[in-house]
Amino acid sequence: MATTPKILAFAGSTRVESFNKKLVKIAAAGAGKAGAEVTLIDLRDFALPLYDGDLEERDGLPENAKKLKVLFLAHDGLLLSAPEYNSGITAVLKNTLDWVSRSESDEEKPLACYAGKVAGLMSASPGALGGLRGLFQVRAILGNIKVLVLPDQVAVAKAHEAFNPDGSLKDAKQQAAVEKLGATLAGTIAKLKGQTN
Ligand SMILES: Cc1cc2nc3c(=O)[nH]c(=O)nc-3n(C[C@H](O)[C@H](O)[C@H](O)COP(=O)(O)O)c2cc1C
Repeated sequence: MATTPKILAFAGSTRVESFNKKLVKIAAAGAGKAGAEVTLIDLRDFALPLYDGDLEERDGLPENAKKLKVLFLAHDGLLLSAPEYNSGITAVLKNTLDWVSRSESDEEKPLACYAGKVAGLMSASPGALGGLRGLFQVRAILGNIKVLVLPDQVAVAKAHEAFNPDGSLKDAKQQAAVEKLGATLAGTIAKLKGQTN
């Protein structure tokens, strides 16, 4: 029986040196240690045009949206590190969520890529709030598209000073909290799948 939790992990930033990419990698490692199979992706590899209904009607879904849908469908949960732009969700993340939400046929159930998934959220920002305000939006959006979002979340403030050169967090407690977020997600999915670990 396929009971191993499968988690798709990514950041809501395409920036090469993204703090959120670093952060989600830590949570992904925590989930892996807790027994999950984690697929870490970079949205930079899945460039998409801005969602446009006319474009969709004319050409259907872009290839990268189709690839992302396949990935979402193949996983039970999401680990998401979401930066905050002007106190809200980044355009690249919202655009990705929008394209992935689109059905390709009448047979495909609405929100098939999201329904029943569990998500763990985190954020990192050079600011004092660590991107916390954006997380409220991401949480609300995911909840509205049938994703169960874990109550625990981590926001890393002063992100430009927070990481060691090896990608770990300087603050050991924060490092542990982010790893634990990944582990909690893995454990929650395992329980929902009827596993006992
Ligand atoms: C358009 C724009 C708006 C931003 N607004 C905020 C903000 O409201 N709050 C905040 O903490 N940081 C804000 N920032 C700074 C980002 O947190 C910072 O660029 C961060 O490094 C982005 O995440 P990344 O490192 O994962 O790419 C903003 C950056 C940009 C480009």
